[in-house]
Amino acid sequence: MSVDQVLKHVDEDLTNSVARLLDLLRIPSISTDPAYKDDCDRAADWLVEDLQSLGMDASKRDTPGHPMVVAHAEGGGTHVMFYGHYDVQPVDPLKLWNSPPFEPALEETDKGPVIRGRGSSDDKGQLMTFVEACRAWKAVNGTLPAKISIFFEGEEESGSPSLVPFMEANKDELTADVALICDTGLFGDSTPAIVTRLRGLLGEELTITGPDKDLHSGMYGGIARNPIRVLSKIIASLHDNTGRIMVPGFYDGVEELPADIAQQWNDLGFDNAQFLGEVGLGVPAGEDGRTGLEMIWSRPTCEVNGIGGGYQGKGFKTVLPAKATGKISFRLVPGQDPLKLRDSFRKFVQDQLPEDCSVEFTGHGASPASEMSTDHPAFEKARAALTDEWPNPAAFVGCGGSIPIAGHFKDILDMDAMLIGFGKDDDQIHSPNEKYDLSSFHKGIRSWVRVLDALSK
Ligand code: BES
Ligand code: ZN
Repeated sequence: MSVDQVLKHVDEDLTNSVARLLDLLRIPSISTDPAYKDDCDRAADWLVEDLQSLGMDASKRDTPGHPMVVAHAEGGGTHVMFYGHYDVQPVDPLKLWNSPPFEPALEETDKGPVIRGRGSSDDKGQLMTFVEACRAWKAVNGTLPAKISIFFEGEEESGSPSLVPFMEANKDELTADVALICDTGLFGDSTPAIVTRLRGLLGEELTITGPDKDLHSGMYGGIARNPIRVLSKIIASLHDNTGRIMVPGFYDGVEELPADIAQQWNDLGFDNAQFLGEVGLGVPAGEDGRTGLEMIWSRPTCEVNGIGGGYQGKGFKTVLPAKATGKISFRLVPGQDPLKLRDSFRKFVQDQLPEDCSVEFTGHGASPASEMSTDHPAFEKARAALTDEWPNPAAFVGCGGSIPIAGHFKDILDMDAMLIGFGKDDDQIHSPNEKYDLSSFHKGIRSWVRVLDALSK
């Protein structure tokens, strides 16, 4: 039967598709916070049941962390492995949400209807685009268009600690002809995008301890070492005045962007002022002499994600604190080795530590960058299928975010991964009031119907 009939079914069933997504969004599966362990488990159960309702052989697989969900369906043609993650980011600051993060709803806005709630875009709404495409295909044709496997993770937002051992232990089961990942965005509002470069991530938390208890800053200020000052100085030393990162060896292995890719990116007409204008800024703050797209897609970075210590409550307290904590992440590009950089960063901190201070480190993920080769025929087929659905032709782009599995499909399973997603820059992922446009969800489902059809031929 024709693709048009499946697309028609998608359109007619959209209200039910949204209702199913809202059900999943009600489960607060925050992976980084142990208080939500049971909820992560419940989200995995929900997905297993939903995939079983599609006739897939689906099961929940325990790991030392949160469970994985793996499902398979027989079929002909290309064997695709689809990946998404059911875990979400914490919701704080809660008071900035206009509606409760886990009471999702379809909401009208000036720019059209949106699905509001934590995880609506990252990544439950996106993973459901694929599930709903399969559901529509099955409803119309009685079968799925290809041999399909599905792999959902529940720890992506906390650095995927169980992922590599799980992939290594289940190599045969997880290997397919090509991997599909739906966890990225469109380019602008209406250009479908296939991501071919993704940055890696090294997350480091450091706690500097000075005195063995909090002190009165009048009695001790001037003579005692203040760990917040020590931490601030170290943080300030991470960049020079041109925006370069000062950790020794940081740029080892980093190469300039190949000329053909630089040209493709220039042709995209990215507007720094417009991109920054949407978040209340105007001036690029990356390394001197780099384009905006280089800053977010192809250059490595170091950002401070959190800093704590001393009195954070209302009012004022003259405390000289015992401890100060910083949370720092590095976005990595091809050529950089996350574990080597972890050692250099820790040494960089240790070398600056004054007497009477000690430091403790906790690692939060270390995943290398990935670079996809677009030689696999699936890339051109998907590009054409996406171009049929959207007003603009599909583009090959980079992505500044990190999705640890992307590189592991290649290095552990020797598979190419194709990253296609429908998020928008203003989805507020990881922030209060996260949303997913109804049009992203709807056209996302329709896009997968077309891509699956193209891959099955
Ligand atoms: N979906 C994002 C990756 C992403 C970010 C894609 C921005 C497109 C634009 C993903 O879920 C994510 O946030 N990953 C974390 C991974 C980290 C915790 C290991 C990230 O990039 O910070
Ligand atoms: Zn995500």
